[in-house]
Amino acid sequence: LSLCGRTQIVKVVPKHIEHFSKFSPSPLSMKQFLDFGSINACEKTSFVFLRQELPVRLSNIMKEINLLPDRLLTTPSVQMVQSWYIQSLMEILDFLDKNPDDYKVLGEFVDALVTIRNRHNDVVPTMAQGIIEYKEAFAQDLVTNQNIQYFLDRFYLSRISIRMLINQHTLIFDGSANPVHPNTIGSIDPHCQVGDVVQDAFHSAKMLCDQYYLRSPDLILQEMNKKKNLPVSMVYVPSHLYHMLFELFKNAMRATIETHENSNNLPPIQVMVSLGGEDMSIKVSDKGGGVPFRRIENLFSYMYSTAPAPQIGEYTRPPLAGFGYGLPISRLYAKYFQGDLQLYSMEGHGTDAVIYLKALSTDSIERLPVYNTTALKNYKVSQEADDWCIPSKEPLDLRNYKVANHACSAV
Ligand SMILES: Nc1ncnc2c1ncn2[C@@H]1O[C@H](COP(=O)(O)OP(=O)(O)OP(=O)(O)O)[C@@H](O)[C@H]1O
Ligand SMILES: *[C@@H]1O[C@H](CO)[C@@H](O)[C@H](O)[C@H]1NC(C)=O
Ligand SMILES: [Mg+2]
Repeated sequence: LSLCGRTQIVKVVPKHIEHFSKFSPSPLSMKQFLDFGSINACEKTSFVFLRQELPVRLSNIMKEINLLPDRLLTTPSVQMVQSWYIQSLMEILDFLDKNPDDYKVLGEFVDALVTIRNRHNDVVPTMAQGIIEYKEAFAQDLVTNQNIQYFLDRFYLSRISIRMLINQHTLIFDGSANPVHPNTIGSIDPHCQVGDVVQDAFHSAKMLCDQYYLRSPDLILQEMNKKKNLPVSMVYVPSHLYHMLFELFKNAMRATIETHENSNNLPPIQVMVSLGGEDMSIKVSDKGGGVPFRRIENLFSYMYSTAPAPQIGEYTRPPLAGFGYGLPISRLYAKYFQGDLQLYSMEGHGTDAVIYLKALSTDSIERLPVYNTTALKNYKVSQEADDWCIPSKEPLDLRNYKVANHACSAV
């Protein structure tokens, strides 16, 4: 394949995507991830699984990229992302006819995965750049915005899952034990101490905060463990948990400092970690003035992001607020293993952000998008006429108000 010219590749790629997108991705459970990395883990088994599963996941989401509005699909940024996906798909397909018993092949596969992971490092800011280009050039409508939100949630979730597969394989089979975390299995910690991750993430956010604002709020951490009187521990990917908490802490700190600008004392950020029979929940509470209820949903939107265009490559952003993807991406990390992330806010007071995860590793199963006619239909929804009265946005004089009110209740 590597000998093929560019035009040759363009011709064969759609056939492969067509073929592999007909398979549904196979979600793995935490237990299956652990088995792939256990003492008698078999690199060959993992290789044979991945050379099929990665093309399936890539092709499923590539079909959805093609459903994006033309004017977004043809932006240079989205074209670039698409070309990365095509390139990576072809590189994995190269291994389909290779011999799994040949250790050289296995070594080459690890190298190929590392190359692919690096190629896709900047997918999120590049995609975000495409959205910005699109927003600047075209008027937006509700249906397109909904489609883009629907797509990006699935696209980024798919990316999280693909990186998880690649990380597990490369970490477990790169031939060296992990000296820093001898007890982890790839990126999974079977005894992840949730409180420790909270402390780590808080510490990093605090350092950024101190740098930028020259002050930072303190942390009060409490843990509830129904089963035992021990610190809460679970089977999880510490880096995912860290990512979510770090984003929540940055937001909580910024809100706290900006609403207490003229005060000598900053109210602390309170964290409650609670382990039950089904859920492991983490609540991050701040007294940072909160967000109006109306805006909550928009905080998770990729389209309503207010921040300026990110600079691709250098990826420098203001320390505590960047391009507004902190919450939506964190929620995807939570959802990836069947959890969720929700915001409860009281404007004037503060915000509670809650991460819900599955307490049992048997419940922690990958949540993956699948391309089929159901997904296709979701892109085709037409804008239905509203069946609720529309309140006027401007203050009305009393006469108009009466007319509008009357028209509504007359039905
Ligand atoms: N705890 C909070 N209190 C008040 N407002 C908040 C809080 N958390 C989030 N927000 C609001 O939600 C917006 C979106 O948050 P999000 O983390 O997604 O993006 P960001 O912080 O602007 O940028 P990024 O996280 O990408 O660096 C914030 O800009 C802020 O206005
Ligand atoms: C699409 O896939 C999902 C998950 O496998 C399934 O629940 C749904 O019924 C499928 N839709 C169709 C039309 O096959
Ligand atoms: Mg943020």
